[in-house]
Amino acid sequence: MAISDLGLADAIPPDFTLGVATSAFQIEGAADADGRGPSGWDVFARQPGHIVDGHSPMVSCDHYHRMHEDVALIKALGADSYRFSLSWPRIQPQGSGPVNKAGLDFYDRLVDELLANDISPMVTLYHWETPLALDEAGGWMNRDTAYRLGDFADIAAQALGDRVRRWVTVNEPATVTVNGYALGIHAPGESLFLKALPTVHHQLLGHGLAVQALRSAGVPGEIGITNVYSPMVPASDGALDKISAGLMDAVQNRLFADPVLLGKYPALVSAANMLTSFSIDDDDLALISQPLDFYGLNYYMPTRVAAGASGDPVPEAMAGALGDLGETVPGALLHITPWPGAETTAYGWPIVPEYLSVALAELSERYPDLPPVFITEGGASFDDRITRTGDPAEGDVVIADEARIRYLADHIHTAIAATSAGGAAESIALRGYYVWSLLDNFEWQAGYQQPFGLVHVDFSSLKRTPKASYYWLQKLLSARRGPTAPDDSKLPAPRRTIG
Ligand code: FCB
Repeated sequence: MAISDLGLADAIPPDFTLGVATSAFQIEGAADADGRGPSGWDVFARQPGHIVDGHSPMVSCDHYHRMHEDVALIKALGADSYRFSLSWPRIQPQGSGPVNKAGLDFYDRLVDELLANDISPMVTLYHWETPLALDEAGGWMNRDTAYRLGDFADIAAQALGDRVRRWVTVNEPATVTVNGYALGIHAPGESLFLKALPTVHHQLLGHGLAVQALRSAGVPGEIGITNVYSPMVPASDGALDKISAGLMDAVQNRLFADPVLLGKYPALVSAANMLTSFSIDDDDLALISQPLDFYGLNYYMPTRVAAGASGDPVPEAMAGALGDLGETVPGALLHITPWPGAETTAYGWPIVPEYLSVALAELSERYPDLPPVFITEGGASFDDRITRTGDPAEGDVVIADEARIRYLADHIHTAIAATSAGGAAESIALRGYYVWSLLDNFEWQAGYQQPFGLVHVDFSSLKRTPKASYYWLQKLLSARRGPTAPDDSKLPAPRRTIG
């Protein structure tokens, strides 16, 4: 049953930030405009078989040319904050060396336009758009990429640092490592399996260097990182399923959170690392675990894990499997199984809102010094039902996405309840929730097949049409009690007003 809008509005604490999120590569298009350099994703997406139906990201939502319209949509929604990412190759086409002023100016205008509309900017430095030149030099397998990200953070700080309210250094390094380097389903398309481990360390080091650069530049905004987190639940009480869930937890969750929040890698990973002849320096861990102003959590679903290959009997060697990881395709060791009785999104992701409470509780237990938390992404893709009214005055198109409304209402409510007094994660200071996503967009390898937007985009005409979920969130935002002060009240006024 959906939680009533008014019940939810009353539950939202004052000063709780409700925002919307996007990323540059997924919405901007304009891939050749104004001196943008090529990215590894441009090349990966062009290769046959990588993207569902051969969809191209080169135009996408064309947000680069429609920024005013999109900011107007956020303004009309009434959101407190907008999380977006900087396109690294748009700003620094080679990933090192000269800055492309025209590219940087785009973000300068965007930040000013947001502030002029009382929308607080949360900027992600790295949301997977690696300049091609860096990918060609080894990408995140190359330690040098971490230093390049540190330099890029300084460029961003000098240009936008006076006005950005919050910085996210790196988005979901786990997805880059697993999808991009271990399994080859994201750019740069490497299938290195366990040998992808150095990409974990280099991304986290890049995070540390970016924090250092932002702090040395003296930016007034708050700084954090965003990790995805999915509680790993064994499919049965059997020992092998439990070991499998533990392994997934170590590889997907702890591997990326422990170094940042505890200053060390999980023991299992340190052991596995011996197979990869890759060394971890103590100074690196000090950089990686620098204190943060907030911790970003992307939460979509829990994961149910079973031992063995899907549909096959558990391999006899499973008990000794941890030692065999270097030689074995991970998919044969364990697999993800459907959640019994759960509805799913169009992606097939189980919808089990109470596991957001489990995720928060696990985080609070594991990381006693956790800084305040923002849920920097949450949302769902559905096969949206599009009804044509035939009457342009009525908006022409109606999208009744009730399932998305229910997903968002249930998850926002669960997060707030879990972190309130008496909740499962009451020690966490939860500061906000960002809906993924403002717009239907280029969903990586799924192309345009997985719409997550509050706003529908017709990818032939590029027309934007708010869905029922947009109007639902608009009502929620105007019915709640807060915020007591604008989210950017600690920052100077916009440098200039855009007419
Ligand atoms: C997250 C990504 C984001 C989007 C959503 C659906 O893993 O950070 O770009 O693809 O999933």
